[in-house]
Amino acid sequence: MSRSRGSYYSALKRITRVVNSALSLRKICNYIAKNTARAMQVNGCRILSLNARKEYLITVGTYGLSDLYLKKGPLDARKSLPDILEGKIVFIADATKDERIQHPQIAQTQGIASILGVPVLGKGEAIGEIRVYTREPRKFSEADKSFLLSVANICAVVFERAELHQLLEQDYKTQTREKRRKSSQVSALLNTHLRPTTFAHPSEEDFAKLLDFYCIEWLYEPRSFPLKWEGDKIVEMFTPDFYLPELDVYIELTTLKQNLLTEKNRKLRQIRQLYPEVNVKLITKNDFAKLLAKYGYGPLGEAKVEGVDRVLYSHAQIQRRIRTLSRHISRDYAGQRLVLIGILKGVVCFMADLMQNLSIPVTVDLMAISYYGGDGQVVKITRDLDSSITGQHVLMVEDIVDTGMTLNYILGHLSAHNPASLRVCTLLDKRARRLVNVPLDYVGFEVPDEFVVGYGLDYKGEYRNLPFIGILHPELIKDDELQ
Ligand code: IMP
Repeated sequence: MSRSRGSYYSALKRITRVVNSALSLRKICNYIAKNTARAMQVNGCRILSLNARKEYLITVGTYGLSDLYLKKGPLDARKSLPDILEGKIVFIADATKDERIQHPQIAQTQGIASILGVPVLGKGEAIGEIRVYTREPRKFSEADKSFLLSVANICAVVFERAELHQLLEQDYKTQTREKRRKSSQVSALLNTHLRPTTFAHPSEEDFAKLLDFYCIEWLYEPRSFPLKWEGDKIVEMFTPDFYLPELDVYIELTTLKQNLLTEKNRKLRQIRQLYPEVNVKLITKNDFAKLLAKYGYGPLGEAKVEGVDRVLYSHAQIQRRIRTLSRHISRDYAGQRLVLIGILKGVVCFMADLMQNLSIPVTVDLMAISYYGGDGQVVKITRDLDSSITGQHVLMVEDIVDTGMTLNYILGHLSAHNPASLRVCTLLDKRARRLVNVPLDYVGFEVPDEFVVGYGLDYKGEYRNLPFIGILHPELIKDDELQ
């Protein structure tokens, strides 16, 4: 089992040759993993990158490991061999018994015995790891460790080069970007590099674009959930399309016709039973088309504007509810000054009526943002606050919260200014379609999963002037058109 200096030398020579190639980050890392595993005569190798908030590790290159082992989900940086990220070399003699291993049962079914892990350090801090795996118990020599550390140093250069490349590209695309985006962006850099070149379905690519627009980090198919076993053998698995790490939610996007959904729903029910801690959401073809239609995209976005089908809330009902909301707000902020902030243009009617009913002193500020345009940009604040909100009590006033992505973005932006408090008041809450669980402190009405217009809300720029809130004609959002 002795590994000669010569084999390590030629492996390093091969690895350094690809580092500067035009290959993608994933291909380079896979090549490094393969050459490392072969030179060390181990059964598998995995190169992992740490996200910027140091919460989880993503696989960026692998060799010799099964799909099941790789798709056991993003590794929690605090639970999965945290010593490596402290800058230490970690040796696990028996992965099936060692309590430092996050998924020992999977290690067992995959026949993994020993693991050696070293940190990938960038400017003195851990930015990733390399781990090698053997099927037979194995001790590693000093030469093995020092070879793996050299490979880790090469990986650090590869990672940093990828980040730099990505940053330059982003800067070119979007000249102005919010601070929050900058910090979360760095964590998403490697993800961006790693995104699959081919999605299984075009709607997945559209969904990824939408998430990118709202700066929501995502991983594509990072985890498979075993659903059925025959003895030790897994005979059925389910791999949701996306995982959104910041929101800790898995998303399954289905392009099946509504009537073929039974099988998928069965699998989702099973996941919920077997893995109660896991949050999985299903977005159907119709849900997704409605989401895109909001921005004038997708099959529904093309439809002709027909008219309002029925009134959901009359002007009198809206005014009554606003008076109640205003009473609650005035009571909660008694003796304080309040800054009301709204986003143009949907909020104008609600903001105007709400502020007239408040009995406390308020100032008002309005922001504007760019909405999803399907062109791969990111959400931008096109009109920022006029005055500083640092140390002020702030109430964010919204017309409608749907997926919650807009509000989530805006709250991130506002909290960066350190207000004394930050709460949310929305006239309408379309809870059924929530993707991001943003806290709502004051809610006017919970509305059904329908496209609503009027009282400031538009469809393709029209209907804002209606004094009531109505549901857009169902012809426009007709399910049959999608099937
Ligand atoms: P979210 O980011 O998905 O929560 O979307 C919020 C924004 O989408 C709102 O501020 C509205 O501009 C728009 N929106 C969501 N649902 C509707 C609707 O039913 N009618 C009109 N606009 C909507």
